[in-house]
Amino acid sequence: MKITIINGPNLNLLGVREPGIYGNRRFEDYLESLRRQYKGVAEIEYFQSNVEGLLIDELHRTGFECNGIVLNAGAYTHTSLAIADAISAIPAPVVEVHISNVHRREPVRHHSMISAACAGVIAGFGLDSYRLAIEALLAMPLTADCKK
Ligand code: DQA
Repeated sequence: MKITIINGPNLNLLGVREPGIYGNRRFEDYLESLRRQYKGVAEIEYFQSNVEGLLIDELHRTGFECNGIVLNAGAYTHTSLAIADAISAIPAPVVEVHISNVHRREPVRHHSMISAACAGVIAGFGLDSYRLAIEALLAMPLTADCKK
């Protein structure tokens, strides 16, 4: 099973950025522990960009060849119809993830442009949200196209 984690804008600063909200662990460290945990079960690819179009390119690239995508689109979650369209365009199931509980935060973060195109949403469990999303993908039945 091949899973791609895609992180959007400002998530390259995890560990440094607003640690009271996002914690003080670097994503690369967490990713290493995730890969160890899922060794032999899932191959985990990782992509991060601060650029909306590059996130879309990555969804197009991996969305036809992997079995599932874990997507934290950062602030583009709340604004990007283009990312929602990209998710709808690909066969791989996408789980929307947020580190923080966006519904306990400012009203502007309560609406997601992408949720309706996603298989499901996990928010508010810190970095563990990514593991929970992987568990959700592993529990989904694989369909013929894209081996998902
Ligand atoms: C976030 C929540 C978004 O509102 C915010 O813009 C982010 C991170 C989260 O993981 O909690 O950049 O997606």
